[in-house]
Formats: sequence, C-alpha cells, structure tokens
Amino acid sequence: MVDILLGLQWGDEGKGKIVDVLAPDYQVVARFQGGPNAGHTLEFNGNKHVLHQIPSGVFRTDCLNIIGNGVVLDPIIFKKEIDGLGKYNLDLKKNLVISKKTAIIIPTHRLLDAAYEKAKGDAKIGSTLKGIGPAYSDKVARQGLRLGDIISPNFTERYKALVAKHTQILDFHHFEYDLTEAEKEFFAALEFIKEFDLQDTEYVVNASIKSGQKVLAEGAQGSLLDIDFGSYPFVTSSNTTAAGVCSGLGVAPNTVGEVYGIFKAYCTRVGSGPFPTELDNELGEKIRQEGREFGATTGRARRTGWLDLPALKYSIMLNGVTQLIMMKVDVLNFLDEVNICTHYRLPDGTITEQMPFDLTDTDVEPIYKTFKGWACSLEGMRKFDEIPAELADYVTYLEAELQVPISFISTGPDREEIILR
Ligand code: GDP
Ligand code: IMO
Ligand code: MG
Repeated sequence: MVDILLGLQWGDEGKGKIVDVLAPDYQVVARFQGGPNAGHTLEFNGNKHVLHQIPSGVFRTDCLNIIGNGVVLDPIIFKKEIDGLGKYNLDLKKNLVISKKTAIIIPTHRLLDAAYEKAKGDAKIGSTLKGIGPAYSDKVARQGLRLGDIISPNFTERYKALVAKHTQILDFHHFEYDLTEAEKEFFAALEFIKEFDLQDTEYVVNASIKSGQKVLAEGAQGSLLDIDFGSYPFVTSSNTTAAGVCSGLGVAPNTVGEVYGIFKAYCTRVGSGPFPTELDNELGEKIRQEGREFGATTGRARRTGWLDLPALKYSIMLNGVTQLIMMKVDVLNFLDEVNICTHYRLPDGTITEQMPFDLTDTDVEPIYKTFKGWACSLEGMRKFDEIPAELADYVTYLEAELQVPISFISTGPDREEIILR
C-alpha cells in the first residue's frame, strides 16, 4: 500500500519531522512532486537538518528513498545536499533511487524564474526562485530534459538547444546574466549524479507494493499552493494534493491507503498571495518569534495567522484525508485565548464555509470562534490524557468540525516531541 503524507495549508506544516517519525513503519519513502523550493526540517539526537529534494526517510537506514518522476530536480543543489549529509555516514548510493523521468532544473530555469518575478513587479508570486515554474513549464511544453537523458550522447546538444530558447526570453526581458560558473557546476553535478542509482522508479515502487512493503509518499508545499486548487496565481507549479501521488510516482489510485494530512495549530504563508486569517500585527510577530517562522529554504519571515477551517476543510476534501496530524501546538502556549476561523463573510454579506473562486480579489472577512488558551508548557507530555483540558477541548472541537481523527499532536521540533492519540 501507499500511504500519503501531505501539508494541508501553505507549506511548512512540519512534514519533514513527521515523515521522519513515521518512516520506521515504512520500507520506502518517496517524494512525488516539487523540488528544491521545499525545505523539510528534521531534528533528532541534537542534530537539525534541512532537506530540499532528498526524501525525509533518509535518516532511517532501513528505508529506501525515492525521488519520483513528478519531482523537478536541481543537480547542483542535489550535490550540495549529498555533500551536506556526509557527516551522517549514510549509504545513499544504496538507499536512494532517482527516477530517470525526473525533470531537470537547469541554470537558466533559475534565471527565468528571477526574470519573470522581476517583470511582475508588485504582483510577484514571491517564488523561492529555484526555477520550479520554468522547469515544470518546459516539462509540460514537451521540451524539458530528464535525468535519464544525461547519459545520452546528444545530451549536451539538447541542453544547448534549450538554453538557446531560454536566453532568447532572458534577452527579451533585458535580464543580465553570466552562466559560466553555474554551467561548470551543473555539468560537474551531472557527473556526480551518474554515480547514483537512476531507474524507472515506477517499477521499483510497484514491485515494493506487490511484495507487501509499505510506501510513504512525502508531499512538498501544501494543498493551498496546489497549481489547480491553490490561491492561483500565488501557487507553486505542481499538484501538491493527493492526486499528484499517482502521476508523480506511477502508482494506481487503488494502491493508496491512509492519507495523513498535516496542519499547524495556526497558519503561516511565505511569499505573496491571499491569507484571510493573517495577523499582520504584534500578535502575528509574537507567533512568528515563538514558532521560529522563518523559511527553511529562503530564510524569509513567514506570515502568520489564525487557523482557518474553511481552508482546512477544503484541503481535507481534496485529499481524502483519513488522519490528521496537528503541529506546533506548543507555539500557542503563551496565549490566554486562541481563535479559529469557522466561516468567511463575503463582501455581499453572505456567510460561507467554501473557498471563493478568487480569494485574491475577494475581500473575505474571517468569522472567529474564541477558545480559552491552555497557557502552559507541554514539555515532556507524550500521551493524550496528559494534555491540559483547554487543549483537549480544542482538539475535540476540531475533530467534530473536520470529521477526521487527529492522530498525533506535535509539541516541539524534535523527533521525540510528539503525542500519540
Ligand atoms: P516542512 O516544510 O513541512 O517540512 O516544515 P519546515 O521544516 O519548513 O518548517 C517546520 C518548522 O517547525 C521546522 O523548523 C521544524 O523544526 C519546526 N517544528 C516542527 N514541528 C514542530 C512543533 O511541533 N513545534 C515547534 N515549536 N516546532 C516544530
Ligand atoms: P515546503 O515543502 C512554503 C511558496 C513560495 C511562493 C510560492 C511559489 O517546505 O512546505 P515556487 O518556488 O514554487 O515558485 O514558489 O510557493 N512555496 C513554499 N512555501 N513551503 C514550501 O515548501 C514552499 N515551496 C514553495 O514561497 O509563495
Ligand atoms: Mg518547509
């Protein structure tokens, strides 16, 4: 079976931590979409490590980790990530397999990302500028390069042809660049990748499933950044929702088992775009500090706000979530009162639980329900019956509203800081 773990908000829900927590129950962990725009943080035994393209099962040495065909991979960042993992003595030539069908991010994709963002001015997406949009665009336009191509004798020729298309666009935008260094690094990184296990990973995953192994599909970004269902155009360029697992790994829908949906007890968003429950004030700043809400990939300050039920219900619906995991509950310890947005009031006065078609141009007013805060430390708590009554009420309310059980509550960044239901 394939279980799925994915973010239900705007990313950074704590997916890396939970994949690492769940991985001992799985034989395979596989990334199915996204690329180095992701930053998945793991903390264990006093180590803190951020992964970008490599699956978060990598520290569990019995796990096979797969980078699936739905991912866009930057070879330069891949090499840096592997080098950064050197100190852990992992056997990544054995425990990591990369799909030959994975799309390659080439240096000009990053330049294009920057040129497009610059051209958008104030309307910019707030992209991580890792070349994600341009790389997926080339894939869909049927002119991209894939990892399996790098051993082909005409790879350099095809690479140059693609670069020539890109430089025409860059010149059109009057975007200045010097590719010399990046290209040197790029080709060195390709030689480095050739030493890894490149395969048609759809066969690997399906063979694992057939032999009764358990596969965990690790999402990147969050459902509200999905290319189809997110707050378009302020989204990423892949299907971050459960549907992306089938196309991003080559598995059939009837192989999917549990869908773990992960959300923070509040909301964050990094980059531009609508955020109905945003706290653009002192309280928001305090949550940012308490939650150390600064991007794992770009270091940018994350915007913060209250938990948003219309958005969460939407994500649960889109993904068929079977179990919820609530993260960063400890961050709200300092509050006497905690709000949850239950509905939106639209400009014409209508009260709704549905996401409007265009959240960007619709001024929705969140309607809140206020809860008494638990206002105490949760340190050392490992069982649900140890949590304060106010937090138990909060959880019970959410489960009743969301109609999905909350199986885990995370109370700190470390692997051990988790309450099992
Ligand atoms: P991801 O992209 O979904 O993997 O999440 P990120 O790693 O980008 O951001 C989550 C951040 O919160 C990281 O710094 C984690 O170490 C941290 N974190 C995860 N779970 C908890 C938690 O329960 N409490 C606190 N305080 N921090 C957490
Ligand atoms: P993880 O996996 C949070 C956001 C960017 C920007 C938009 C488009 O760590 O949760 P892109 O680089 O894809 O062109 O950016 O999406 N974004 C993320 N926000 N977490 C992420 O990944 C993100 N990946 C992209 O900030 O608003
Ligand atoms: Mg992140």
